[in-house]
Amino acid sequence: MSSDSNLKRVLGRWDLVGLGIGAIIGAGIFVITGQAAAEYAGPGIVLSFILSGIVCVFAGLCYAELASMIPTSGSAYAYARASMGNFVAWIIGWDLILEYFFASSTVAVGWSGYFVSFLKEFGIIIPRYLSSSPFGFDHIRGWYLTGALINLPAMMIIAIISILLVVGVRESVKVNAIIVLVKLSVIFLFIIFCAPYISTQNWIPFIPENTGVFGHFGWSGIARGAAVIFFAYIGFDAVSTAAQEAKNPQKDMAFGILGSLILCTIIYILVSLVLTGIVDYRLLNVPDPIAVGVDAVGPAIAWLRPFIKLGALAGLNSVILVMLMGQSRILYAMSKDGYLPRFFSKIHPKYQTPYLNTLILGILGMMISGIFPIGILGELVSIGTLFAFAIVCISVWILRRTQPNIPRYFKVPWVPLIPILGALSAVGQMLSLPPDTWLRLIVWMGLGLLIYYFYGRKRVNEPNIETFPE
Ligand code: ALA
Repeated sequence: MSSDSNLKRVLGRWDLVGLGIGAIIGAGIFVITGQAAAEYAGPGIVLSFILSGIVCVFAGLCYAELASMIPTSGSAYAYARASMGNFVAWIIGWDLILEYFFASSTVAVGWSGYFVSFLKEFGIIIPRYLSSSPFGFDHIRGWYLTGALINLPAMMIIAIISILLVVGVRESVKVNAIIVLVKLSVIFLFIIFCAPYISTQNWIPFIPENTGVFGHFGWSGIARGAAVIFFAYIGFDAVSTAAQEAKNPQKDMAFGILGSLILCTIIYILVSLVLTGIVDYRLLNVPDPIAVGVDAVGPAIAWLRPFIKLGALAGLNSVILVMLMGQSRILYAMSKDGYLPRFFSKIHPKYQTPYLNTLILGILGMMISGIFPIGILGELVSIGTLFAFAIVCISVWILRRTQPNIPRYFKVPWVPLIPILGALSAVGQMLSLPPDTWLRLIVWMGLGLLIYYFYGRKRVNEPNIETFPE
C-alpha cells in the first residue's frame, strides 16, 4: 500500500456497512419523513424515497469506484484533487466540511428533541429554554428570537461523542456496532408489529391531489418530498472517509458504500409504507412521527413507544459519531496536503487518532448545535452534499479519461451515462431547495475562497495520487 498513513487499519467489510448504516439512518427517517408526508407527498412519500434512492445509487456507484481506486481518508476531496487539481479540491474539501460538520450539529439538535421526549416518558421534564435554539428562522418572517437560551442536550451529545472519537477508532466502531444493532432492531420491531394494523384506506388516494401550489401534493409534491427526505440518505458517502482505516479497502469500500445504501433504501421504503398505512398522513407533522404512528394503532402495542424513542436516540447518536469522524478525517487529509495548518493532522501518540482536530470540531459543533435550529442546518447540509455528489460523479468520468491505467477494483457500469445522470439529478435536487439556502452556500464558499487565497494557495503540495499496487 503506497500510503503514508498513521491511522490504524482495523475495519472489516461489515464494519464498513455498519459505519454506513450508522451514518444513514437518523433524523431523516425518524423526524423529517413525517413532515414530508404531511406537507408534500402524502402516502406517495414512498415514491419520494424511491426517487431520492435512485439519485443516491448513481452517486453511490461513483463513490464506490473512486474509493476502491484511491485509498485515502479524504473522500470526494481526494478524488477531486486527483482528477481536477488543487483549486477544485479545495472547493470540494471546504464543501465537505459544510456537509459533515453541519450534519453532526443538525442531528444533535434532533437528538435533543427525542431526548427531552424520552425523559418525559419517565416524568422528567427539561425546560424548553434549556433545550432548544435561541434563534428561529422561517421563509416568511426571516430570523427571530424564540425566547429560549441554549440547547444544552445537543451540546452535551457532541461533547460526549468527540471525547469517544479521541480515545480511539476501534472503540468508537464497537460502540457504533452496538448502536446500529439497537436502531435496526427497533425499526424491525416497528415494521413487524405495525404491519398487521395497516388499513389500506389510509393509502387512498396514494398520491393526494395537488392543491394548486407547486410541491403541495400531486406529482410535484412527490418531487419536493424527495428533495426534503434526501437528508435521510446522507451518510453512505462517509464510508469513503474511512479508507485508511479499512483492512482491505480495495475490495471492501464498494461493499460498505453500496451495501449500506441498498439496505437503508429497502428499510426506508418499508417504514414509510407501514407508517402511512397505520395513520392518516395528515397527522404526521410532529417531532416524533414514528411514535405517533404507534400511538395511532392503539393500546395493543403502546409498549413499543419508549423503545421507538430509545431506538431513535441510538440512531441519531451513531449519525453524529460517523459524521464527526468523517469530518476529522477530511481535515486530516487537507492538512497533510498543506491546505490547512499542520496541527489538524497531528496524531495522538497513544490513541493514534487526529485528536486536535477532533477536539476543535467538537467545541465548534457544540456552539453551532447549541444555538441554531434544525431546519436551517439540515437544508445547508443537503445542498452541500448534493454539490459534492455532482463533483464526485464528474470525477469518475474525468479519471477514466486521464488515468485509464490505475487499477479499479470496482467499476461504474455505462460510463459516462451513469456519472452524467448522477450529476444532473444532484443539480436538479439542489435547484428544488430554497433561495436562502443557496445564499448561505455562496457565503460559505466565498469564505473558503478567501482562506484558499490567503493561506492554502501558497502552501499546498502537488497532487500525488496514491493508488493500490497492481
Ligand atoms: N442521513 C442522516 C440522517 O437522517 C444524516 O440523520
